Amino acid sequence: MRRRTVLPLAALGLALFSVSALATPHEMRQEMIERGKTLTFACIGCHGIRGYNIPYPNYNVPKIAGQNRAYLLAALKDYRDGLRQFPTMVAETRAFTKHELREIATYFASLRGRVKTRTPIYSRSEAKRGAKLVSTCAACHGLHGIAVAPEFPDLAGQYPSYLERALEEYKHGLRRNAIMNGMAASLTHREIVEIANYFASQKGPLGQIPGA
Ligand code: HEC
Ligand code: HEC
Repeated sequence: MRRRTVLPLAALGLALFSVSALATPHEMRQEMIERGKTLTFACIGCHGIRGYNIPYPNYNVPKIAGQNRAYLLAALKDYRDGLRQFPTMVAETRAFTKHELREIATYFASLRGRVKTRTPIYSRSEAKRGAKLVSTCAACHGLHGIAVAPEFPDLAGQYPSYLERALEEYKHGLRRNAIMNGMAASLTHREIVEIANYFASQKGPLGQIPGA
């Protein structure tokens, strides 16, 4: 009788011991953030500088600090897999493993609430007209550009020139995404400019990554 209970108890003890030896979810996340940070020094030169511009076509490098983690990871994978075009980003993402991309996305998302957020320069009159065009977009991106789920990007306070570029790319199939290709297909250039200015005018959590 005694013998039968001793063994299971010993096994239970061993199991409890190994569980406590493992890192907690919080510690594991903290470790991912730290590792992600060490992988992103090369990104600071563009994503760490406020108002940094890319020429031909001319638009601002997007704010990525504080963006939603699931979206960031999907974006990084899309560059690596060629669903998005920007050559530097394709090259940067191909230098990392899937796990490293996860660490990078975790780090950028962890900056939410810890970076300066400024409303970019935008056109008030365009934004006013844009406000009337975003009822469909609100289902995923929120009426004020704060996404309803982490799979969708926050658009609030993003550079209008970047939002415009992204929408033009979806419209012309240069950036491939089943949902957004459909959404952008029927927008005119005018409407794209107005919508971009509207979302840019909203208060949001996005900013530059620190370090520059
Ligand atoms: C030469 C400047 C440059 C460098 C260096 C750079 N990026 Fe980018 N990044 C851009 C530009 C420009 C875009 C927008 C490109 C486009 O239109 O698709 C972008 C887009 C992104 C996006 C998508 C943002 C969104 O809202 O969809 C992520 C995420 C990103 N970069 C992460 C990184 C990471 C991580 C690194 C470093 C490993 C890095 N970038 C290095 C210029 C740069
Ligand atoms: C059903 C959900 C859904 C709706 C509705 C929707 N979007 Fe999106 N949007 C997405 C998803 C998902 C992505 C990310 C796609 C990708 O990975 O390229 C996205 C990406 C974007 C981006 C790129 C942001 C960035 O940081 O690169 C812009 C700009 C955008 N949407 C604007 C709009 C506008 C404007 C509308 C309305 C006309 C709209 N969306 C409607 C789901 C949606």
